[in-house]
Amino acid sequence: MPDNENPEWNEKTLPPKDLPLDTFIHGVASVDRGHGFRVGEIVGIIADLAGITSIDRDKLKMAGKMHDAGKILIPNEILQAPRSLTAEERKTVQKHPLLGLAITQWYNHEFCEEIRDAMLMHHERWDGTGYPFGLKGENIPLLVRIVTLADTIDAIASRRDYKAPWKPDFVQTFLKHETGKIYDPDLAKVCIDHLDKVLEPVKNCKFAH
Ligand SMILES: [Fe+2]
Ligand SMILES: [Fe+2]
Repeated sequence: MPDNENPEWNEKTLPPKDLPLDTFIHGVASVDRGHGFRVGEIVGIIADLAGITSIDRDKLKMAGKMHDAGKILIPNEILQAPRSLTAEERKTVQKHPLLGLAITQWYNHEFCEEIRDAMLMHHERWDGTGYPFGLKGENIPLLVRIVTLADTIDAIASRRDYKAPWKPDFVQTFLKHETGKIYDPDLAKVCIDHLDKVLEPVKNCKFAH
């Protein structure tokens, strides 16, 4: 798995319109030490454990890989800052759901609804206090609620420049605390009950440690 250096495009240079699709997806999924690759795996595990049959697994995986596409336009100095962000920097980071859609519009490839929903809504919260819309509960599509769980589970269980990986006990405590706040309670319960399985993609990725 590559690191998140991509010399061809960054916050000042959009991906060329003729960039091969595989290269585009690979670059997006590589951001934050391969975060998108792991989220793409974790979403499938959660959906299987929850017995969800209504969601196409290939689309779900791709939605997980692509959810943070907008972060390729957020400066690395902010994304990788080894400290807490300022209020201004947080506002910049919070633009990434909309930037993700803008990038895919620019790149001019037909991404399916599931991928676009995941990019746009993965920071919505079950209690309605998320962004960019403030959607609440089941108004947030089921696929997106799965991505939201996988997203934060990977973020807290992986190494980031500003923090060490959280131990499984801490992850479990966090999930319990945020059940019904950030997370769909039914999906969160599945992750709490089967955390070892859900964390396998993190354990198996050397870039996450
Ligand atoms: Fe995000
Ligand atoms: Fe993410």
